[in-house]
Amino acid sequence: MTSKPKVESLDTIVSLSKRRGFIFPSSEIYGGFASCYDYGPMGVELKRNVKDAWWNKMVTMRDDVVGLDCSIIMHPKVWEASGHVANFTDPLIECSHCKLRVREDHLEFLDQKCTSKNKEHSWGEPRQFNLMFKTNLGPVESSSNTVYLRPETAQGMFVNFQNVVDSSRVKIPFGIAQQGKSFRNEVSTRRFTFRTAEFEQMEMEYFCREEEGEELFKYWRENRLNWFKDLGVSQSRLRLRDHKPDELAHYSRCCSDIEYLFPFGWSELEGIAWRGSYDLTKHSENSNKNLVWRDQASGETFTPNVIEPALGTDRAILTFLTDAYEEDEINGNKRTVLKLHPALSPIKVAVFPLLRKDSHPEKSREVYKMIKSSYAATYDESGNIGKRYRRQDEIGTPICVTIDHQTFDDDTITVRDRDTLEQQRVKIDALKGFLFEKFKF
Ligand code: GAP
Repeated sequence: MTSKPKVESLDTIVSLSKRRGFIFPSSEIYGGFASCYDYGPMGVELKRNVKDAWWNKMVTMRDDVVGLDCSIIMHPKVWEASGHVANFTDPLIECSHCKLRVREDHLEFLDQKCTSKNKEHSWGEPRQFNLMFKTNLGPVESSSNTVYLRPETAQGMFVNFQNVVDSSRVKIPFGIAQQGKSFRNEVSTRRFTFRTAEFEQMEMEYFCREEEGEELFKYWRENRLNWFKDLGVSQSRLRLRDHKPDELAHYSRCCSDIEYLFPFGWSELEGIAWRGSYDLTKHSENSNKNLVWRDQASGETFTPNVIEPALGTDRAILTFLTDAYEEDEINGNKRTVLKLHPALSPIKVAVFPLLRKDSHPEKSREVYKMIKSSYAATYDESGNIGKRYRRQDEIGTPICVTIDHQTFDDDTITVRDRDTLEQQRVKIDALKGFLFEKFKF
């Protein structure tokens, strides 16, 4: 089967995101600020749902993974030990005519012509450019108080390894998971939220014995791929790609990317890496603390290996938005619909009075209040009913409930399904049970 991106142009998603309050350009009133984006009222709910779905699968539903939330600014020695100060670099090249700077390995994507008159780009030698943002802790700027904004959440799990082992009842193999902001001074930020300077990550470090590494690496590749499929992303636009030896990060023994077919082509969505015992070994050497696992029963002591599934929250959101986007026609009218998995939909139920007169609004508000105590719901009485449906379809609301004339005769309401467009009458008393079944995930 040949795969095709869900939408032809990323602009379709950028425009929907702005129009419906998912994602706005940062500081837009000042002309926007490339590399950063803000999540609007719908986006913030979508983001929470994506993070909850991840946390639920990776931590809550498991007995072998615990959570962590560590600081963004860490001791600068963390980044020396991890190799980021020396190795976390991209090759930067500059055009000697127009001074444009780009990543050497991104040249093939460059569509910007040389702005110097009648000239082609003339690239200089590549320079290694460190991606970590530096700042100073304290009022005086000096090299002795340089600190970094973390470029990944992963190091928090390594430096807290002993704290977690000592304070919880984990048994190897076990994982430590974290969600939070990371920062990278990317040479080229492009493609909306795909690559930005400030972003969120959801990472898990799964500590194990070396001999378990290969099996667990395979297990986590499949486990993570299935997470996207279970949340409705089309299998035809997902694939696993193993890294070639020359692509491996400095710490990796092997690595696979889950790739998604974005409008701009197949690109990395999540990385699953077998990091060997690199991180704990380096932090043990640099901190003079012995970061090892001691088996209580056998007395065996060893430095665990680690398997790491590392996902960018913003990239996951871009994937869910893109894959859910559809345009269809109802009775000759075009509609845009986001067929988001209901677990991700910012709003689960919209409640409408058919009319803005008689007792329709009062009754609708009663029903709305009843639903709102259990589900993210919204009430809307503006415009005609068709327009109200369209508004909800565009933000991915799975269920719309309408209070109409018949409600006053037999206490039923119309329940309309976003995807099948099926409408059925449900007793108000039975509505909570109906929604419970619908939103059982
Ligand atoms: N701890 C390993 C690590 O950070 P990575 O492949 O550099 O590995 C993991 O990053 C994930 O974080 C990526 O697969 C991607 O989803 C996301 N990510 C990385 N850089 C990003 C950026 N500049 N903007 C948005 N997401 C990014």
